[in-house]
Amino acid sequence: MATLLLPLTILSLVAAGIVAGHNVTISLLDSAIAKGAVCLDGIPPAYAYSPGFGDRYDNWHVFLENVDACLDRARSSNGSSAKLMSTQNGIVSFGGMLDANSTFNPDFYNWHVVKIFYCDGSSFMSDVEDVDPKYNLTYRGARIYDAMMDELLRIGMGNAKNALLSGTSAGGLATTLHCDKFQSLFHNTTRVKCVSDSGFFVHGEHFMGADWREAFFFSVISTHGLANMLPTSRTSKFSSTLCLFPENLVPDIQTPLFLIESAFDSYQISQNVFSPSDTSPRWISCIRNLMFCNWTDIKIMKDFRYTFINTLKSTIENSSSRRGYFVHSCYQHGHMEYKRDSTCSSLVGNGLANKTIAQAVGDWFFDRSEFQEMDMPNDLPRNCTSFDDQPTLEKKCRDYIHH
Ligand SMILES: *[C@@H]1O[C@H](CO)[C@@H](O)[C@H](O)[C@H]1NC(C)=O
Ligand SMILES: *[C@@H]1O[C@H](CO)[C@@H](O)[C@H](O)[C@H]1NC(C)=O
Ligand SMILES: *[C@@H]1O[C@H](CO)[C@@H](O)[C@H](O)[C@H]1NC(C)=O
Ligand SMILES: *[C@@H]1O[C@H](CO)[C@@H](O)[C@H](O)[C@H]1NC(C)=O
Ligand SMILES: *[C@@H]1O[C@H](CO)[C@@H](O)[C@H](O)[C@H]1NC(C)=O
Ligand SMILES: *[C@@H]1O[C@H](CO)[C@@H](O)[C@H](O)[C@H]1NC(C)=O
Ligand SMILES: *[C@@H]1O[C@H](CO)[C@@H](O)[C@H](O)[C@H]1NC(C)=O
Ligand SMILES: *[C@@H]1O[C@H](CO)[C@@H](O)[C@H](O)[C@H]1NC(C)=O
Ligand SMILES: *[C@@H]1O[C@H](CO)[C@@H](O)[C@H](O)[C@H]1NC(C)=O
Repeated sequence: MATLLLPLTILSLVAAGIVAGHNVTISLLDSAIAKGAVCLDGIPPAYAYSPGFGDRYDNWHVFLENVDACLDRARSSNGSSAKLMSTQNGIVSFGGMLDANSTFNPDFYNWHVVKIFYCDGSSFMSDVEDVDPKYNLTYRGARIYDAMMDELLRIGMGNAKNALLSGTSAGGLATTLHCDKFQSLFHNTTRVKCVSDSGFFVHGEHFMGADWREAFFFSVISTHGLANMLPTSRTSKFSSTLCLFPENLVPDIQTPLFLIESAFDSYQISQNVFSPSDTSPRWISCIRNLMFCNWTDIKIMKDFRYTFINTLKSTIENSSSRRGYFVHSCYQHGHMEYKRDSTCSSLVGNGLANKTIAQAVGDWFFDRSEFQEMDMPNDLPRNCTSFDDQPTLEKKCRDYIHH
């Protein structure tokens, strides 16, 4: 079974910082069952909805959550949406750019915010009628996405003044894949934009491991029957496998899109450079702590950055509409949900061009200013997570915001 599953171990490194936002109750979308829009294990998909308030009542932020709520169930015959409910007590925290506190999330704090949990293993793309007999799994991600959108339109999203689709990691890739489709749900007077956070998985055909990355995407496509689900404007130019790589998807997207990335994306470097079978102790200790990397390892990371930046640049140049981007050099993966990274900028020192990720995205979303910045001076991976002392970090964050 091949899934776009990203390791929680890496994400939990990020999560160690200031995450806490406000608590929101997780719900199951029971109405999805009648539409066959079910998770891998046949259970209804889960989401969490925090209603908007105040003067931004007409604004909607839909966030595609990376936590794969079904995989454990699929593996251990338990859990899924149910597992999500039990491990989190049916509650999930909305932090960072999903937070309801205006101090930490000045531009989007009083929006309607919806987190949709990823439980289909394919970035909400698959639509296979038959249950996979080998694993007893159902691949229906596209139907889950559609059923969720139907529900959001039912509760009023269609009248939005502003709408944002975003997601981190596999959710960032899903955002890229669904961006234009999301835009088409709204009136032409609605401002609709998308933010893909750490979802730019490079093919990097001339960089080591390209065959492995291609084989991985190929297996996802065949398991989930995605070949016919990808945009035809792309499949006419590339094989379906190559179509799933953002560098080949992003150029055709018509809706404004912002990319938040690290040029030393820790997930891509630690998991995708080599096949995951590279578990030599030396490499493992290096990807956990950069201090243990030798120059051979660092050279690999620098080569990755070179490939990443060049791919991103040419993707942007080839794009039909202008893109925003914030590309830093901290060895990291995932930003939007983390106050520390998105708002307090502890991740990137003082941000890029004096802006935090949250400021850059807010300014871009509301057309106050464009943002296209890459950290070019730093060509070595930086450890920006060493600031573990929570009170100190919290204080630094407040000073930074009030400054
Ligand atoms: C949110 O829920 C967690 C437990 O799931 C709890 O520890 C925390 O205090 C809650 N936070 C708020 C602000 O209620
Ligand atoms: C397959 O999964 C469904 C839904 O979880 C379950 O009801 C059924 O018993 C499973 N079948 C087998 C053969 O395990
Ligand atoms: C399945 O989840 C329930 C709680 O939802 C738990 O009590 C039970 O121990 C779990 N079983 C397995 C095999 O993980
Ligand atoms: C927002 O966070 C700040 C700093 O922690 C706190 O002082 C303030 O009370 C919070 N505002 C709300 C509305 O919770
Ligand atoms: C928006 O749509 C309406 C009709 O649905 C059309 O008359 C109008 O020209 C459109 N405006 C723009 C800016 O495309
Ligand atoms: C970053 O620094 C901290 C504290 O020294 C260390 O625990 C952590 O492993 C480092 N992370 C990386 C990826 O180097
Ligand atoms: C780094 O470690 C690997 C494996 O031990 C070794 O092959 C390589 O030569 C080392 N590189 C340097 C610059 O020491
Ligand atoms: C950009 O377009 C050029 C010319 O069509 C092409 O050679 C290049 O591969 C494209 N780059 C990407 C990342 O799609
Ligand atoms: C950042 O802000 C400081 C002080 O506000 C200013 O002196 C500096 O020129 C700014 N740098 C950039 C790159 O905008």
